Order: sequence, then structure tokens, then C-alpha cells
Amino acid sequence: MSAPNIETIVSLSKRRGFVFPASEIYGGLGSSWDYGSLGVELANNVKQSWWRWLVHERDDIEGLDSSIIQNRQVWKYSGHETTFSDPLVDCRACKGRFRQDKLLDVTCPKEPSANAGSGKECDLTEPKQFNLMFKTTVGAVSAEDDETALAYLRPETAQGIFINFANVLNTSRRKLPFGIAQIGKAFRNEVTPGNFIFRTREFEQMEMEYFCRPEDAQKIHQEFIDEFQGWFHSLGISAANLKLYEQTKEELAHYAERTVDILYRFFPERDDEEKQFDELMGIANRKDFDLMAHSKKPEDATGKRLNADSTEDLSYFDEATKQRFYPYVIEPAVGVNRTLLAILMDAYTEKTNDKGETRVILKLTPELAPIKVAVLPLAKNKPEIVAMAKDLKKQLLPAMRTVYDDTGGIGKLYARQDEIGTPFCVTVDHESLEDEAVTVRDRDTWDQERIKIAELKEHLRKKLD
Ligand code: GAP
Repeated sequence: MSAPNIETIVSLSKRRGFVFPASEIYGGLGSSWDYGSLGVELANNVKQSWWRWLVHERDDIEGLDSSIIQNRQVWKYSGHETTFSDPLVDCRACKGRFRQDKLLDVTCPKEPSANAGSGKECDLTEPKQFNLMFKTTVGAVSAEDDETALAYLRPETAQGIFINFANVLNTSRRKLPFGIAQIGKAFRNEVTPGNFIFRTREFEQMEMEYFCRPEDAQKIHQEFIDEFQGWFHSLGISAANLKLYEQTKEELAHYAERTVDILYRFFPERDDEEKQFDELMGIANRKDFDLMAHSKKPEDATGKRLNADSTEDLSYFDEATKQRFYPYVIEPAVGVNRTLLAILMDAYTEKTNDKGETRVILKLTPELAPIKVAVLPLAKNKPEIVAMAKDLKKQLLPAMRTVYDDTGGIGKLYARQDEIGTPFCVTVDHESLEDEAVTVRDRDTWDQERIKIAELKEHLRKKLD
């Protein structure tokens, strides 16, 4: 089972402290979200899983953390200043503002609402190109529109990697093929953000640029398409809710030779199965576009430099063949927030207890669960039981994230831990004081077993592994 719709996850997230609407006490700020105590842990676990898998476990990828605000030239030569825009249309009748290419996905704000663009009442203006980059100014400028101080908040983390290609290559003494990975915030002034954390104006990306010889690019591209599906499975996302989408020639970005998106079933409530799926990540073959675009060397037919501002040539010299060329780039680009949403949707399960009540269980993998173990005292008015439970928490904590909770009856405490995805609860009761053993309860099966305290840490560690 998985969540029937995104709304179910919005409500669980608010109720249990995963995600809250941002600026809520001032009426909110369209499509901005804050991550609560459990949300931040879950997001950190997703990022750690990605980083460990790519940067630590492989031998061919380096990490990087580049600035959010870069020299404006970065966005000029990457093409973002001229091409990073969406076609925007206004409706004269309902006053709605929409992306022309996504009209069928949005709802007309007029009551009764129809799909914008398909409703007879819609009276759309001609499309205008709207650049999605957030502008800012750097330094103490006298005027807000001072062009010399203009800068942007990065709309993707990728460019920070391309402009550091030579730095990383030279300091790590790498040879092709190798990759550079980066996790960080990105900002896009989206025309139609929405669907909770699916599309927001501030979000986080995990991007990896893999530099290779042009002749190896197609094969490496396919390998990453396969491997990323495997990574999503390892996060507990079922294969039935994932699918691949090959971008058409018309959809491909100007720099891409081939792009395959991995889609997730974010909208299971939709009748049309195809419309249930939307992009979770993209894996692009960007050819040699980026390194060439940021290099000082390439010239046009008349001998004029294509990039008049760069001070570096980002080509690669192959010692073996004595050839110099611009490496091709394979780019798997994932959104942290969309991954988190897919994980929450896929982990969502309902189960009926023996009283006929419906309980929510979040079947997160142990690796992702914000809390691995909750230690619960059966009687909070019994100091010996409380002391033993608190002591157990301290013993387990260095090895696994453990919390102590005595804020309700045991039934309520179990229900809370099930709903936030804690794999195991450890209950200390009156007998524990006599037999030096505790009850370990499994989140998914609700089975309970008695385990000696001396063996508890090893028992849980094995189960969590
Ligand atoms: N460097 C390539 C690039 O940025 P993208 O497809 O525009 O490619 C990559 O973005 C991923 O970032 C998307 O697949 C999605 O997961 C996430 N993403 C993009 N825009 C987003 C937004 N407005 N809100 C949340 N996530 C977003």
C-alpha cells in the first residue's frame, strides 16, 4: 500500500512534525515549506544515503560545495540568462496566471473551476517568456536596478560544478572518467508552484556531473539510468510506482543529447494512469556543452572567442592518446524534496487493530527512519522503571538514534512511533526490574519479543542492518 494522494501526506506531515507551511503565522508564503524535527532528520538521511553511495562507496566521484551566489557571467554563459524561462499566459476572465505548456495540469481559480485553458470561459493572452531566476544585488549599491551589482540565486547546483572542473581535476589528480557531486539549495521563481513540496521556489538538489570521453557517454548514461532506479528501490520505493520517461526531441534542453526522467506515481488518485506519474529526477547526456561554454578557447568561424570573459580553458588532455578535448557530461539530477515526498508516499500504510481502529504505519527503511528506537516506560510514576528506560536510551544512543518518551499511555506511544516510522519500540515494565529484560515491538508486524538487556544493543543493531 502507499498513500492515496499527496493531501494524506500533507496532513501527516503537519500532524507529526515532518513539514509545516512556511511563514504560517503571517498567512504563509505561496508554496514555501519548513521542515520540522522529523522532516529535517529524514531529509538528512536521504542526503547521507546519496552521498555515501556516490562519493564514499564508489572510487570515481569527488564532493563539492559551491556558492549559491556566483559571478553573473556564470549564468550568462550557461545560457540561463537567455533561455531559462517559462511561457507565461494570463487569463483575462479569471485573472489566473499559468504556464502555457502546463495548462491542462492547473485548475482555473474561477468557481466552478475547470481546467485552465480547456474551460470555455478562458480568455488567454499571448505567451510572454518569464525568466525563472531570482535576482539580487551584491554589495552596497545605490540603486536597486544597478546592473553592475546584479546577481542571481542559483537555479541549479550543476553550474558550480562545471566552473570548478579544473580545480577539482588538478587537486584530486583524477583522470577521466570521474564525477563531481554536490548537494545544495536551488531557487526558481516558478510560475505555478504547488502540490506541497513537489514544486517549490526554494528547493534542494543532489546533482552529480560525470565527466567522460565522448565515445563512452552513451554507455555510462545507460548505467546511471539503471543504477538510480536501484537506489530508489534501496530507499524503499516500490518498482510499481516508478517508471522511465524518454524525453522527446522537442522536450530536450538545448544542451542535451538524450534525457531520461525517472517518474514517480505522485498522483495515484488520477483516473488516467499516465497522468499519475510525474518527474522525480532527470538523467541527461549534456555532451561537451558546459565545459566548452565556460572556456576561454573556443572560437567562432571568424576567430572570435565564444566566451570573452572566462580566464580558463576547461578542456582535458589525455596523456595516453596525446589528445585534448572537452569531456562529455552525464548528469543525474535529483530533488531532495521530491525524493522525500516519494519516500513518504510509498512508506504510508494503514492497518486495522483488533478494536477495528485504523492506524497509520510509515514503513520507512531503517536507514531513513528519523528515529530508530523509542524507549517507553510502562509506568511513568515508577522511578525505577523511568531510570532504567532513560539509562537504556543512553546506552543505545551512540549506536542508533534513540528517544525516550513517556508522554502518554503505551497504546498512544506505539501509535505515534508507528506513524513517524520508528522501526522498534523498547518497553520497560515492572518485570524488567526482576528479569533484566525488555519487550521489543516491531513496527510493521506489531510482534513483540522479550530480549535480555545485555543482548539488546546487538539484537537491535542486527535487525536495523
Ligand atoms: N541541472 C539539471 C537540472 O537542474 P532539472 O530537471 O531542472 O535539472 C533536477 O532539476 C531535479 O530537481 C528535478 O528532477 C526535481 O527533482 C528537482 N526540481 C526541479 N525544480 C524543482 C522545483 N521547483 N521544486 C522542487 N524540486 C525541483
